Amino acid sequence: MTTTAEPASTTGPTRPDPLDEIKIGGMGASRRRVEDNRFIRGKGNYIDDIVLPGMLHMEILRSPVAHARIRSIDASKAWDIPGVRLVLTGEMMASRNLAWMPTLSYDTQAVLATDKVRFQGQEVAAVIADDPYIAKDACEAIVVDYEPLPVVVNPEQAMAPDAPIIRDDKLNQPDNTCFTWEVGDKAGTDRAFEQADLVSKISCHYPRTHPSPLECCGSIADFDRATQKLTVYMTTQAPHIVRAAVALIAELPEHMIRIVSPDLGGGFGNKVPVYPGYVISILASILTERPVKWIEDRTGNLISTGFGRDVYLDGEIALRKDGRILGVRMTTTSDHGAFFADAQPSKFKIGLMHSAFAAYDIPYAHLDAHGVYTNKAPGGVAYRCSFRVTEAMFFQERMIQAAADDLGMDQAEFRRINLVKDDDFPHRTPYGFLTDSGQYEKCLQVAMDAIGYDEFRREQAEARKRGRLLGLGISTMTEPLGAGNSREYDILGIKMFDSAELRVHLSGKAILRTGAKTQGQGHETTWAQIVTHELGLPADDVVVEEGDTDTAPFGMGTYASRSTPVAGAAVAMAARKVRAKARKIAAYLLEVSEEDIEWELGRFHVRSAPERGVTIQECAMAAYANMPDGLEPGLEATAYYDPPNLTWPFAAYICTVEVDPQTGVWDVLRFVAVDDCGVRINPMVVEGQIMGGLTEAYAMSSMQFITFDADGNCIGSNFMDFLLPTAWETPGYELHEVVTPCPHHPLGAKGIGECATVAGPAAFVNAVLDALKPFGVRNIDMPLLPDRVYEAITQRHDVSGHPPIRTDN
Ligand code: CDP
Repeated sequence: MTTTAEPASTTGPTRPDPLDEIKIGGMGASRRRVEDNRFIRGKGNYIDDIVLPGMLHMEILRSPVAHARIRSIDASKAWDIPGVRLVLTGEMMASRNLAWMPTLSYDTQAVLATDKVRFQGQEVAAVIADDPYIAKDACEAIVVDYEPLPVVVNPEQAMAPDAPIIRDDKLNQPDNTCFTWEVGDKAGTDRAFEQADLVSKISCHYPRTHPSPLECCGSIADFDRATQKLTVYMTTQAPHIVRAAVALIAELPEHMIRIVSPDLGGGFGNKVPVYPGYVISILASILTERPVKWIEDRTGNLISTGFGRDVYLDGEIALRKDGRILGVRMTTTSDHGAFFADAQPSKFKIGLMHSAFAAYDIPYAHLDAHGVYTNKAPGGVAYRCSFRVTEAMFFQERMIQAAADDLGMDQAEFRRINLVKDDDFPHRTPYGFLTDSGQYEKCLQVAMDAIGYDEFRREQAEARKRGRLLGLGISTMTEPLGAGNSREYDILGIKMFDSAELRVHLSGKAILRTGAKTQGQGHETTWAQIVTHELGLPADDVVVEEGDTDTAPFGMGTYASRSTPVAGAAVAMAARKVRAKARKIAAYLLEVSEEDIEWELGRFHVRSAPERGVTIQECAMAAYANMPDGLEPGLEATAYYDPPNLTWPFAAYICTVEVDPQTGVWDVLRFVAVDDCGVRINPMVVEGQIMGGLTEAYAMSSMQFITFDADGNCIGSNFMDFLLPTAWETPGYELHEVVTPCPHHPLGAKGIGECATVAGPAAFVNAVLDALKPFGVRNIDMPLLPDRVYEAITQRHDVSGHPPIRTDN
């Protein structure tokens, strides 16, 4: 190793063979996931693996009822249990101004209930003890006197004139409206409907569902009185946002707060909000001056944190006889539960619901969105979704299928007529987004060829004659991934951009840190591949670290498939800054001017003499050991990336099914998925993302059923009731790709993580409803459980999944 100030040796008189990017793990390599080395050995470092000296354990007492006034809380018996160190109630939180906290959607949420409980499972008290079992026993010793109140479990009840007001803690809250919001051209849309030959209508419900990461939420708060520093290890997808929130809620100085998000056992949006458990553990650590660990149990996770969806749609499409869509009207009502607690870009109350129909060339659209409070846990988190995009695309594709049926037009042909054409980009969507690239018809064609579209339609017609019910469902969509840009997107006023910091050590090895946070998506593998692509350092020479606010540059975290579009772009930009500096060093080492230097992967050479060159590793060594006079030593760079636009990947999915008319059971025959996520960094990781997303889509369409009875009891509080598909149920998927590079992303990449969860459900549901067309059935709400399908077949009517309204009082 040369560490003297000698000029670095050149790479010899002959020009070396160019590096093979795939071999060294660069872009396009299906590099094995490096993080799996520790995961498959059981060496992951999850929150529950962390043990700090003197650590105490916290348990939360949750409300058994959905709506009740709290008359009193008697915790005296809990205090008496040996090993109990602290019992916290809402009253004690209130005395420190911590009984309520702001949410990421400009609402407030109870940390521990003071006045009343507003959903079953709400946090009422917390016990901190020497071990978790003592804490749990002590929770059971707390006596709470509840005065029951009428319970509201759906929007219809919530908006009834005599409905109890759930958020009576808020000033100026005359009813259960959480928000109203509209977007689009109402007058233009009205005109389009006046000119329509036909109006197609459909109503459907996207039911409440749950991201169900295998690891539940948890935190370890560790307040050090001597240094005044608060360290919180926690399950969060967005550590920097949490640091900002803790600084605001607990009024602690930001530089004295360190949030560490260790390995996460899945997130899927469940680990974006700030939950009461985190906040209580922080106060508990401040009061006890000991580290306090809170680990949520499965039921706690399923009944109280991070529900997704729960949106009702009334949709209308104005159609011309020739199949052109003239306009779209959407009226949505979303059930947010008791607190509006999910993260939203602050301008958009119903997330990006208005990204619906972005793939179709439609002149006018209008969306009227209503959010309501009910006696359920806070809902609406973006479960593998860009802020309500999943609902948007599901409703869109259900409306498209119904419209094609109403016109008597072939499903694929109807889509083809209305999809945005390749040379129509940039394209302004009916709700005002700008899409910039895509080959939509090509993707649809690849899917149709793969499934054998015409052949299946013939087979289906034949089968129908013999009483067999075959169906084919299509889902085509483009979705917005990668918020910002910062002009339009912020959370709590913090602009949505992201960051990367790359340090190349003197030996040419490197450490990369980003403001994103992987939860299983493989950032440790794929970010290194971007560095390899930009610098020619072998991917194995780049270690990736995320999730520690003391070391990572500020970023908005990982959700909404924003990592590749934003943090991934920042990685490329940081690497390019490093390369720009290395070029100066190369010019010095090669004794030519910078203009005379050319870059090839991993090496600079003299333009007129390609055999005279220096490798990036030699430049790294020189940056510390032989730098030119006047050049700042070291080889590192930080980049903050504010994307000019969202990225718009496209998906064309076709599913075929057979429905058993005797039982309502349906089986997937084939599922073809064509995804265009632009340039793929790691094709194997991308395919894994698609397969995982499709499996979640299958689960939501076929089996996941989490609802509430008329008393607000959550049905689905464990994995016996709320089903996760196993390998046994999961269908096989046939994956294909089309590549349309993103014109503004430095690597041409678009996001992919959630595409399959977003586009998948409509393909499954459309397929079953296509099979049921002879019965005049237009809609069955998800999940398409056999009893619902059977009812539709035998009763020849639609089947609604609306939760119950109480009829016995
Ligand atoms: O934000 P999140 O990581 O959930 O989603 P993403 O940005 O879509 O990326 C998911 C995974 O797929 C990451 O490991 C990406 O690096 C990888 N990916 C890729 O290899 N090529 C793409 N064009 C998009 C994502």
